[in-house]
Amino acid sequence: MSQPAATPTGPAGTVTVRVPAKVNVQLSVGPLRPDGFHDLANVFLAVGLYDSVSATRAEAPLLTVSGPDAAQVPQDRTNLAARAAELLARRNGLAPDVHLHIAKDIPVAGGMAGGSADAAGALLACDRLWGLHTPREELLALCAELGSDVPFSLAGGAALGEGRGEVLTPLEVGGDFHWVFAVAEGGLSTPDVYRECDRLREAAEGGVPEPVAHEPLLAALRAGDTQALAPTLRNDLQPAALSLRPALAETLDTGLAAGALAALVSGSGPTCAFLAADADSAIRVAHALTASGTCRAARATSGPAPGATVV
Ligand code: C5P
Repeated sequence: MSQPAATPTGPAGTVTVRVPAKVNVQLSVGPLRPDGFHDLANVFLAVGLYDSVSATRAEAPLLTVSGPDAAQVPQDRTNLAARAAELLARRNGLAPDVHLHIAKDIPVAGGMAGGSADAAGALLACDRLWGLHTPREELLALCAELGSDVPFSLAGGAALGEGRGEVLTPLEVGGDFHWVFAVAEGGLSTPDVYRECDRLREAAEGGVPEPVAHEPLLAALRAGDTQALAPTLRNDLQPAALSLRPALAETLDTGLAAGALAALVSGSGPTCAFLAADADSAIRVAHALTASGTCRAARATSGPAPGATVV
């Protein structure tokens, strides 16, 4: 068997991991399960907005955060990144004495899996810092214990997430897709959005079908065909996010009027995602969104992006 590759470390023995945000190109939500979760058909695409998580040996656990939205991020043991380090340490009989630093660029509580990204980043950074080289499948299982979206943050690329989103099947993607993300003022709580989804459905007629991946959407991803992907985008949480934050409708309309091929709420929101025909169009849509005042900021990027990577 070959030896694991040496991990690059910084001057103080620091390991830094870069980890991407995601957008859900399909988020189909099944009925509420007895355990409080929902079965999903969740088609994840990693996109080129990244957080960096650095792990450095320390006398005691410490977590710090930098970036424009740092004040909105818990800097204690409740942070999912700190819980990731604790889980890995506990499983290996170690003390979680590590300084985790998160350089935050992914919108906070925005439906882009920023917290999950930090957890996956912390897990991989600590794994390498402590020289554990945990097998990939075990790392993915630890990710799933931390949260439904965390395995995908580790994996990146594109994947179908089933179960509560943690059972991943990698998907083939035939090209790059260009996106704009309109970041809202303030976040939305994921449990609140799922609860609102259940409430709206209770009021509606008919049962909730079991969620299944939409074949035309998977075919468009495989072909790298933006025009074919646009009409297939779908998010069952969007009505709930719009119910809790009606102003998002204006953001979605603004991006479409500026030439986006499709618009949807990203995951549980409130970030809105726009699929653009190409990189130039994405920049035009981002400018129009910024100028409109219907969002706090707009960012143009592309996906698929690689998963958590030691840098
Ligand atoms: O798994 P995670 O901790 O990210 O989930 C946060 C919350 O989102 C859950 O407590 C639940 O309320 C909701 N959720 C859900 N069904 C899923 C994933 C998350 O209801 N498949």
